[in-house]
Amino acid sequence: MLRKEQNDLLTQTGAGTPMGEMFRRYWIPALLAEELPENDCAPVRVRLLSEKLIAFRDTQGRYGLMDEFCAHRGVSLWFGRNEECGLRCPYHGWKYDVTGQCVELPSEPEATGFRAKIKLRSYPLVEFGGVLWTYMGPEEHQPGLPEYEFAQMPPARRYVSKRLQYCNWLQALEGGIDSSHVSWLHRDALRSDPLMTGSRGNQYNMGDLAPVFEVADQPAGLFIGVRRDAEPGSHYWRITPWCMPAFTMIPPRAQHPIHGHFWVPIDDENCWAWSFDYHATRDLTTTELAAMRDGKGIHTRTIAGTYIPEANRDNDYLMDREGQKSGRTYSGVSGIAMQDASLQESMGPIIDRAKEHLTSTDGGIVMARQRLMRAARALATQGTAPPGVDPATHRVRSAAVVLPAGVKFDEAAREALMARPGEAHASV
Ligand code: FES
Ligand SMILES: [Fe+2]
Repeated sequence: MLRKEQNDLLTQTGAGTPMGEMFRRYWIPALLAEELPENDCAPVRVRLLSEKLIAFRDTQGRYGLMDEFCAHRGVSLWFGRNEECGLRCPYHGWKYDVTGQCVELPSEPEATGFRAKIKLRSYPLVEFGGVLWTYMGPEEHQPGLPEYEFAQMPPARRYVSKRLQYCNWLQALEGGIDSSHVSWLHRDALRSDPLMTGSRGNQYNMGDLAPVFEVADQPAGLFIGVRRDAEPGSHYWRITPWCMPAFTMIPPRAQHPIHGHFWVPIDDENCWAWSFDYHATRDLTTTELAAMRDGKGIHTRTIAGTYIPEANRDNDYLMDREGQKSGRTYSGVSGIAMQDASLQESMGPIIDRAKEHLTSTDGGIVMARQRLMRAARALATQGTAPPGVDPATHRVRSAAVVLPAGVKFDEAAREALMARPGEAHASV
């Protein structure tokens, strides 16, 4: 359980809050590259870390991310005209380039110097791995670009999607590092989802419903190891890396692609659930890609033209009571992504963690909260850079392995937990 001030510290990410300032030390996913598909395309509203921003791609293909509102009298630049290397406010014609600099201000003579002083707050926006990344922190602390393995893959080897989730980012992250719920909430997927089936690990998963959690520090965050009984004398380990603040990877199954998430705060009551799949040694097959686009695996079908899930809180997530009764879906909600989101949203936008009753299977969550709070406080009080800022620390992988009983999982699986270019992930 957490006291109110601890919960506030963890869940508030606006500018000036300790966790908000910490988030601003990392590159975070802002948009899918497909959202700004061509030069001079329509601008897109972006809300991140409680800031209202506008993203656009100019005539020369440069990306910009800046304050959504015109410096003149506050019109939303979503209404802007994207023309000739700048976004022009339609109200009185002030025009801004991708850095937020006002480049035309028709009502004032240039000689006054007024125009040159007008600049909207702006952040870098960089395309990398099918994602547009931004860094919203102090310029002098901007790290090198991220090196998460999925984003390093050629396009044919990866698939990335995102969906809107109506709750605080930490609720979503905590689902991502809680491997114990898989044997309950997602048990039908282990039998039926084309991106999950056919793994020996699925039998171990269902054969031992009381997994043992062990957690190990790693430079960017944690490795969360979950042990279940395998054959006598051995254990099946599912190992989830968490890189601070919001990157997690799910242990793979058989030779299906490996996958994971980013949980990015939109504001304190909403987040983006980013989901990626990739395979380090082969292209994704057309069958796999079709399944991902159809919302299988960790992805979900979204309402056309939006990133809002088709099954959402307004339609009770298309709850199927008959399917729940018959066991076709354990929770009655279809698909892993919305099975997670429906329950996490049901807790309310920000759960009161003073009311929880945690057990040993919540060990990963407890450790992650402690590391987040420690890092946010160290940054706020001593200016200490948080873990996971250095891109070299992003090169981790999840793993699903059978290890002899009695070994330390993070040592025995050390190789498997590193991104190894040209080598497939470790999976059973
Ligand atoms: S409000 Fe934008 S130009 Fe006047
Ligand atoms: Fe889940």
